[in-house]
Amino acid sequence: DTVFVLNGPNLNLLGTREPEIYGHDTLDDIAGRLEDRARELGLRVDLRQSNHEGHLVEWLHEAQAVDARAVLLNAAAYTHTSVALHDAIKGIKTPVIEVHLSNPHTRESFRHVSLVGSAAKGTIAGFGAMSYMLALEAAARF
Ligand code: DQA
Repeated sequence: DTVFVLNGPNLNLLGTREPEIYGHDTLDDIAGRLEDRARELGLRVDLRQSNHEGHLVEWLHEAQAVDARAVLLNAAAYTHTSVALHDAIKGIKTPVIEVHLSNPHTRESFRHVSLVGSAAKGTIAGFGAMSYMLALEAAARF
């Protein structure tokens, strides 16, 4: 079974982007750890990143089309703005887990609303790169 791990804008900069908030791991570091753990769980990880909202929408559709077990979605800033992502999550049967490195509720008020979270099965936020690992553990148990 495949788990899609979809990452939104600016997450290509992980490692050097505001490390005091997001840590020093790069997205490749996270991908490597997810792949190792997925193998132990008998799963496969398909990790992607885009700075374009429409790519994320199309990848959500693709997750359903290929019968992925789950999607881990860190929509980054689109979390707080994207009705299109909310509707895409609602529009597919594939379970989506919202993931964030930081805890948006402890940050600026514009991060307190999540249009992704109100459509997702659940949310894991605030544990840095470990948020992705915890979300994978959840997906493995669906
Ligand atoms: C983020 C939180 C968002 O508010 C922010 O726009 C990001 C990253 C996180 O993983 O903590 O880009 O999704």
